[in-house]
Amino acid sequence: MKFRVIVFISFFFFGASSNSDAQSYQDPQQHACLKCHSNQSYTFHNDVTGMEVKRLMNPYYILDTVAISAGVHKSFDCTDCHSAEYEAYPHQANLKLEPLSSCLDCHGGDESYAKYKFEEIQAEVEKSVHHKAYGEDFSCSKCHNQHTYAATARNSDNVLEIVDYSNKMCLSCHNDMKKYKLVSGHNNPELVEVHDWLPNQALHFQHVRCIECHTEVVDSLMVSHNIVGKEQAVKKCVECHSADSRLKASLYKYENLQKRSENGGLGNVLTNSSYVIGTHQSPFLKLLSIIIFLATLGGVIIHSIFRILKK
Ligand code: HEC
Ligand code: HEC
Ligand code: HEC
Ligand code: HEC
Ligand code: HEC
Ligand code: HEC
Ligand code: HEC
Repeated sequence: MKFRVIVFISFFFFGASSNSDAQSYQDPQQHACLKCHSNQSYTFHNDVTGMEVKRLMNPYYILDTVAISAGVHKSFDCTDCHSAEYEAYPHQANLKLEPLSSCLDCHGGDESYAKYKFEEIQAEVEKSVHHKAYGEDFSCSKCHNQHTYAATARNSDNVLEIVDYSNKMCLSCHNDMKKYKLVSGHNNPELVEVHDWLPNQALHFQHVRCIECHTEVVDSLMVSHNIVGKEQAVKKCVECHSADSRLKASLYKYENLQKRSENGGLGNVLTNSSYVIGTHQSPFLKLLSIIIFLATLGGVIIHSIFRILKK
């Protein structure tokens, strides 16, 4: 996979000056679209005036080529999903009306993807706050970018990476006023203010996913998809900071993490049934508490010695 990424990137750096683009790149047809759709600006030939025209690209239509080549659909042509008529520019106006496939259109009822449990996920999504508010309009693609989605929780062995990837899916909307407003018609609540009861907010958002607190845990699914209302969100510290933390049933349950967990903090969480999350973080604090303890002990001893001497 690394190799593919490198080929992809090097193409963009060196491809432009070479004459054999098509050979150095596995998928020349995709490249034709990305010439415009991976850049801030694009050029086209105006047949009416006979001039070359240069324009700014809508930032929401610029695709991240590195993320595409890391995604599950990297082997697709653009026109596997979009109409081949997009090859012409200006694009035909009626292409806007084209229905696009949903995840279930392609993955539903397919044995080879059974382990992902697409149908069960859909049933969970249909219970969520988003579905209740917006129905079918809140499609899977609102969270899952079909161009770039990668099954990170399933495949990564790094908690921080899993958390970052997952939270960006939520923040892409909850932290983007324009996107949020497009869906809801009103401004997004400031997440920092909404969560101001949570100490070390930045640290928490690095170490736990939004879905840890905002979904009902479903044991049979790798990723719980039923986002519940804010009244039901986890607020009690002990739900996580206790020996039987809910994180063991959610974030820390992945085999891919457990395989790598022999060393380091996560190993403690998983193997030691009385381990409490958040107690291994700071060696400095540990040292400080030992120093304070020794100093107190020292104080008591010295005090006692003086009392004995005085007597
Ligand atoms: C010459 C530059 C250029 C090329 C090449 C190009 N596009 Fe576009 N595309 C644009 C621009 C600019 C827009 C913004 C809307 C517009 O101007 O029509 C756009 C819009 C789109 C949209 C959004 C349509 C909408 O309004 O909802 C899709 C989807 C799309 N392009 C797909 C493709 C695909 C697939 C290809 C390759 C087969 C492709 N484009 C090739 C410039 C280009
Ligand atoms: C696996 C299917 C799939 C492939 C492959 C695919 N797209 Fe898309 N594309 C979609 C879907 C679905 C949407 C609509 C997303 C939504 O609902 O917001 C979309 C939206 C777009 C948009 C509009 C952006 C937006 O946010 O509305 C552009 C531009 C676009 N695609 C260009 C491309 C280009 C260029 C390629 C090739 C590199 C490509 N797509 C490959 C499924 C695909
Ligand atoms: C146009 C049909 C199509 C759509 C729409 C589509 N997929 Fe896929 N998807 C595929 C195909 C085909 C593959 C296999 C690609 C390959 O092997 O290179 C795949 C691969 C995957 C994989 C990796 C499977 C594996 O174990 O290798 C996941 C996960 C996935 N898709 C999730 C999704 C999600 C989530 C959505 C909706 C946001 C979605 N797909 C939409 C056709 C589609
Ligand atoms: C509110 C946002 C949201 C919506 C809506 C959503 N998902 Fe997800 N989904 C996620 C997040 C977050 C993940 C975890 C990402 C990761 O690390 O793989 C995920 C993961 C997945 C996975 C990978 C699970 C695994 O076992 O590896 C699949 C498959 C999936 N979603 C399918 C769907 C389908 C199908 C829909 C629509 C019916 C959908 N999702 C709607 C947020 C969402
Ligand atoms: C430690 C648990 C926890 C985490 C992690 C967490 N939340 Fe929350 N969230 C809550 C609680 C509890 C509330 C309800 C707060 C209240 O009503 O006072 C809430 C409220 C919300 C609301 C409702 C805002 C409103 O008032 O309408 C949104 C939206 C939200 N969270 C999104 C997110 C997103 C996005 C993330 C990830 C970046 C996230 N949350 C991470 C616990 C959490
Ligand atoms: C495409 C935009 C979008 C994405 C992506 C998205 N949300 Fe939301 N979310 C919304 C909107 C809009 C609302 C307001 C719903 C309403 O008006 O009731 C909302 C509401 C919420 C609420 C508050 C429900 C309440 O009781 O008020 C929570 C919690 C929440 N989202 C969590 C998440 C989490 C967690 C993720 C990622 C897994 C996520 N959202 C992804 C748009 C989004
Ligand atoms: C969703 C689970 C969850 C909830 C709920 C939660 N935390 Fe945490 N907290 C964590 C995780 C994970 C860490 C990261 C520490 C680690 O990796 O050991 C952390 C870290 C901390 C730290 C830093 C510990 C250190 O060693 O630096 C403090 C302090 C803390 N939490 C306090 C709280 C308080 C107070 C609450 C309730 C208001 C709370 N947490 C709620 C999961 C949670």
